[in-house]
Amino acid sequence: MALHIVDHPLVQHKLSLMRKKETSTKKFRELLKEISFFLGYEITRDFKLTYEEIETPLAKMNAPKISGKKVVIAPILRAGLGMVEGLTSLIPSARVGHIGMYRDEETCKPVFYYYKMPAEKSRLVIVTDPMLATGGSACDAITRLKEDGYKNIRLMCLVAAPEGVKAVTEQHPDVDIYLAALDERLNERNYIVPGLGDAGDRIFGTK
Ligand code: PRP
Ligand code: URA
Repeated sequence: MALHIVDHPLVQHKLSLMRKKETSTKKFRELLKEISFFLGYEITRDFKLTYEEIETPLAKMNAPKISGKKVVIAPILRAGLGMVEGLTSLIPSARVGHIGMYRDEETCKPVFYYYKMPAEKSRLVIVTDPMLATGGSACDAITRLKEDGYKNIRLMCLVAAPEGVKAVTEQHPDVDIYLAALDERLNERNYIVPGLGDAGDRIFGTK
């Protein structure tokens, strides 16, 4: 497992704007889309290239192109949906699956309610969820994907708590994690501190 923290200044600046409690739903959504694009840029960094002969207006050349890496984006509902558009603008041919789960408010344990993924299991799956708190939701989502036959999985989050990173690392050591920030801790309600609050509510304006 590798933990990648994308410390690009633009990502860090945009994340600070997202964290502010006065940031509007509209702005929050736009910023999440923009950061997702940059995180996607890092997550695809090791894609292999192949070469094909093309002709520019001046000469023939061997030009690089991506060698058939097929991707499925798998948002954990609801908040993971906010990261899909940034990724599809980067990888337009990506398929999109959906993993429906919410965190029970009392127990903080994930509850499944929906699962739909494309049939082809050889694709790289990028699981998206802005918040990696206890790690319960991400771990269960990845377990479900593996039970379904997916073998090549990466996790893309915005903000994580150390507890969440530890849980994913221990339960799924083969899954690389991409983050914009690793925060300090969880509070007594298992919210990330300083964090940005409830990501789903902030994306969809439900509070
Ligand atoms: C949030 C978040 C993650 C989960 C993180 O979702 O988007 O899915 O909690 O917590 P964990 O790491 O402790 O499992 P939530 O349950 O609030 O659902 P929502 O996206 O529908 O708002
Ligand atoms: N889910 C959120 O949306 N935010 C947190 O800080 C923790 C879980």
